[in-house]
Amino acid sequence: MLLRGSEMAKTKHLSDAWLLTEADKIADFGSMSDERFVLLKEQIPDKNQIDATGRLVLPAFCDSHTHLVYPASRELEYVDKINGLSYEEIAKRGGGILNSARRMQEISEEQLFDEALPRLEEIKSMGTAAVEIKSGYGLTTESELKMLRVIRRLKENSDLTIKASFLGAHAVPLDFRGRQSEYVDLVINEMIPLVATEDLADYIDVFCDKGFFTVEDTDRILNAGMKYGLRAKIHANELDYSGGIQVGVKYNALSVDHLEYTGEEEIAVLLGSDTMPTVLPGAAFFLNMPYAPARKMIDAGLPIAMASDFNPGSSPSGNMQLIMSMASILYRLTPEEGLNACTLNGAYAMDLSAETGSISIGKQANLILTKPMDNLAYMPYYYGVNKVEKTMIKGKF
Ligand code: NIG
Ligand code: FE
Repeated sequence: MLLRGSEMAKTKHLSDAWLLTEADKIADFGSMSDERFVLLKEQIPDKNQIDATGRLVLPAFCDSHTHLVYPASRELEYVDKINGLSYEEIAKRGGGILNSARRMQEISEEQLFDEALPRLEEIKSMGTAAVEIKSGYGLTTESELKMLRVIRRLKENSDLTIKASFLGAHAVPLDFRGRQSEYVDLVINEMIPLVATEDLADYIDVFCDKGFFTVEDTDRILNAGMKYGLRAKIHANELDYSGGIQVGVKYNALSVDHLEYTGEEEIAVLLGSDTMPTVLPGAAFFLNMPYAPARKMIDAGLPIAMASDFNPGSSPSGNMQLIMSMASILYRLTPEEGLNACTLNGAYAMDLSAETGSISIGKQANLILTKPMDNLAYMPYYYGVNKVEKTMIKGKF
C-alpha cells in the first residue's frame, strides 16, 4: 500500500471521532454521533478512555532512513562547513564518514548501544513509531558487524519497530584509498556472507554517488546482496546524476534515497518501478545543497516518502515534525502530502505498510496524540517545537 501522485494530497479525516484499540491493534473508529459510540462509551471503564478534545490523532511517523547508531557527534565539522568547506572537501580530508569510522573502531558495543537507545526515546517522544537504521560507520568487517549487532539489540530492547540495513559501502576506508574495487571485494566476499549468516540485516545499502561508489560497484554489491535475500535500499543522486536511481531500480530496490539530482530520465525510470523515491529534506537543508524536485515528481505521478536521515554529519536530527515543515516550506508539499510522505509511504519503504503508517482497522495502534490544535496544517506550520503530546506504540503510550 502506497500513495502516488495526486493520491498523496488526500487524507480521509473525521471530526469528533472516536478510536478503539484492542491489545496492540486499532480495533475500530468512527464518528461520535453514531450509535455504536454511545454503547462503547458505556462498556469501557473511564480509566481506559482518553479525551482527545481539541487535539488530533494521527498515524505515528515511519522514518525509513536513519544512521542513528553512531559513535560521536561531529559539531566541529559543522563549524568547518559554516566556514565554507563542502561536504566532499571534508570527506577528502578524512573527515565526514571516515571521521565516524575512526571513532567506531574505538567504541565498545556496550557504549554504542547505550548512546543509541536514548535517541530512540527521543524520536519516539516526537512521534516516530517505526524506524530504519543503517550500519556504515564501521567500514571494517568487525566494526560493521558491531554496528549491526547493536541494531539487533535495539530491536530487542525497544518498542519501536526497527529495520536494519547493511551499508558496508558507505565510504572507501583510508587504507583502501586507490584500491576501491578491493574494498568492494571485501564487502562482497567477506561482509555480506557474514551479515547474512548472522541474519543481521533486512536490507542492503550503497552510497552510489560522485566521489563514493560507482554504478558498477553498486551493481556488484546489490547483485551479491540479492543472492543472500537482501533487498536494496540505496543512497542515490545526492551529489550528481550518478546513475544510482537506475541501478537501484534495476535491482527492484525497495527505495532510492536523497534524489537531489533527479531529471526526466530518472523520473521515467521510477515511474515504471515498485521503488519508493525517498527524499531527505534534513540533509539538503543542513548541507545547504540543492533540493530534490519532489513537487515535480509527485506531479509526474510518483509516490514520495520523506525521512529524517538522522546522522551526525549531514542531518543531526530525527525530528519528523521538522521534516513535515520542510516538506511544505522547501518542497511545496501540502500538509496532507507531507503527512503521507512521513507515514504511509515511509512504511512502504520499510516493508511495513501492512502493519503501520495509517489509521486502519487491524494495523498496529501506532498513533500520535497531538497537543491542542484545530487542523493538520498547524503541524508543519508551528515549526521547531514538539507538538506531540504522546506517542502510542502498539497500543501503549
Ligand atoms: O545519508 N550520504 C551519505 N551518507 C549520509 C551521511 C553520513 C555522514 O556524513 O555521516 C547521508 O547523508
Ligand atoms: Fe543516509
